[in-house]
Amino acid sequence: MGTFFGSSIGKKFVMSISGLFLVVFLIVHLAINLLLLVPDGGETFNAAANFMALPAIKFGLQPVLALGFIVHIIYAAIITLQNNKARGSAKYASGNKTKDVMWASKNMFVLGATVFAFLAVHIYQFFVPLQITHSAPELASGGHDTYTLVANALTCIPTVVFYVIGSLGLALHLTHGFWSAFQTVGASNNIWRKRWTVIGTVFAWVVGLAFSAIAIAMYFIGSCGGCN
Ligand code: HEM
Repeated sequence: MGTFFGSSIGKKFVMSISGLFLVVFLIVHLAINLLLLVPDGGETFNAAANFMALPAIKFGLQPVLALGFIVHIIYAAIITLQNNKARGSAKYASGNKTKDVMWASKNMFVLGATVFAFLAVHIYQFFVPLQITHSAPELASGGHDTYTLVANALTCIPTVVFYVIGSLGLALHLTHGFWSAFQTVGASNNIWRKRWTVIGTVFAWVVGLAFSAIAIAMYFIGSCGGCN
């Protein structure tokens, strides 16, 4: 078992499983964020956000989510370093053999780092005031007013642009990561490889564009205007 996880395919396997787990998180996160667009002043979104903050969910899921990110990032760094070492000064060759290697697949680490940079700021903006410093706005009825926190953050054009760049970086990262994960876990043959590529590409852009659209919509919904 130890040798499997130390092997090249074992490491890719860990990357794939942790990546697919993060995909599930993204679907839940996007579904909840779409509630920001319900025109009820944030009531539905706040109800969902406060449900997700219940201790059983928070303390049950958050450590697993954090572990998923940590494992994915550490293995990405190890695999990239090993690949670079093995390849030496010979970068990807051009020609027939590699012409179908998409730009994203060659730049997974850079795209991952972009998403990571986005996440660092994103966590600082939302997670920290909600769960660490408890400085986020409160609802009169109890619980956080996460809607107002998000609306206030996205009244500023540079922040919206930053969210769009982070979301599109995520989309590009997923265009390669999604099908590649299914390939690695063995759920792919010649026919399914093509199908996973199509499903993965559609999924990636739906997710990336939906997160971008939410950020842009919140800019127009937010009434105060100007950067905080
Ligand atoms: C319009 C775009 C987005 C909005 C409005 C948004 C909103 C939020 C909010 C309000 C929280 C805090 C939840 C809480 O702690 O109660 C949060 C946390 C988080 N977001 Fe986002 N998010 C967006 C995009 C993204 C993207 C693109 C990613 C992934 C690349 C992401 C990953 C995370 C993670 C990892 C957390 C911390 C875990 C958690 O608290 O659930 N978010 N987001």
